[in-house]
Amino acid sequence: MPLLDTLEQGLRELDARGLRRRRRTIDTPCDAHMTVDGRETIGFASNDYLGLAAHPQLVAALAEGAQRYGAGSGGSHLLGGHSRAHAQLEDDLAAFVGGFVDAPRALYFSTGYMANLGVLTALAGRGTTIFSDALNHASLIDGARLSRAEIQIYPHNDTDALGAMLDASDANVKLIVSDTVFSMDGDVAPLARLVELAERHDAWLVVDDAHGFGVLGPQGRGAIAEAALRSPQLVMVGTLGKAAGVSGAFVCAHATVIEWLVQRARPYIFTTASSPSVAHAVSASLRIIGGEEGDARRAHLNHLIGRTRAMLKQTCWLPVDSMTAVQPLVIGANDATLALQAELERDGLWVPAIRPPTVPEGTSRLRISLSAAHSDADLDRLNTALEQASRAALEHHA
Ligand SMILES: Cc1ncc(COP(=O)(O)O)c(C=O)c1O
Repeated sequence: MPLLDTLEQGLRELDARGLRRRRRTIDTPCDAHMTVDGRETIGFASNDYLGLAAHPQLVAALAEGAQRYGAGSGGSHLLGGHSRAHAQLEDDLAAFVGGFVDAPRALYFSTGYMANLGVLTALAGRGTTIFSDALNHASLIDGARLSRAEIQIYPHNDTDALGAMLDASDANVKLIVSDTVFSMDGDVAPLARLVELAERHDAWLVVDDAHGFGVLGPQGRGAIAEAALRSPQLVMVGTLGKAAGVSGAFVCAHATVIEWLVQRARPYIFTTASSPSVAHAVSASLRIIGGEEGDARRAHLNHLIGRTRAMLKQTCWLPVDSMTAVQPLVIGANDATLALQAELERDGLWVPAIRPPTVPEGTSRLRISLSAAHSDADLDRLNTALEQASRAALEHHA
């Protein structure tokens, strides 16, 4: 079959299974209230947990960075593109989150996807076994596959099963890999137990704190700081396009690990460094996250999380037990999830449907993503719409 026919057939199959994705176009900054596809909408779709993406100080820092360093970096980090803004940000990040290790150093990547690919391919290879949580993010899965290491998947958060796998392993190098906050469930990994297992089995522990950094822990230093963990075998990845409100990612670990990544992490080496202005804006974001305003935003977010948990329990669907800003409501079938998404959309609420392969078959869900930019009135709107939809669904089944 010619290639285009194959692709068209593949797209028809996605339609038939309710799996075709459609992009929305946003005309306004990322905020609680946005214009999406030309309509006024309250958004529960972003990962802008602290509501910083449109913060005037970050917008000003981006402009100031562009004035000072220009629009583009001009090259890769190892060949002329590494600016003072990148270097400063790495120092800021190491000082902010590096308390879990002696001699901390941080490395700034253009995206979290690249950071995870970079860490796993540089630290793992043939002769390594990667022990990976069943619900890890796609970027960790892809990094593990690309590394050519053996991959063993342990059931979600099941540290007994992981312990048994580590006991049975005779790999030269062992790498335990886990999200801290799981991106589609919002639950938190048993981090203290993972550190204990890593130390007992002389393994590395790579944690992806994409959804914890900025939100969890003292001053938003992340899930590792929240659990007050310290270990030389810990490697932390954090992303900067979610709670930090800008873009990019970092790896923080012992200085020797970071130096190895500079030498060997291909997604770091073989790409143009992101604009220095972005790094300059992230440094400004860290000052907000770590200061009083960050504390106030986290307090408001936690208030919204408490309200949402209570609200979701009143519906006829299955909320996931999450204490974080990611509040999933499992509907089950793809078409029912899409229908609920469309119903909310008609009410001016954007709550994305998450379907396989992002989540396991039969567990399609609405992913309600909360932000400090939301007001109580925004949540009231969502509550009313969900109440109505839940009542209608129950009547339909009666
Ligand atoms: C857990 C997790 N890790 C990594 C990433 C990738 O980060 P980025 O969007 O910066 O590429 C994401 C989300 O996109 C994520 O949810």
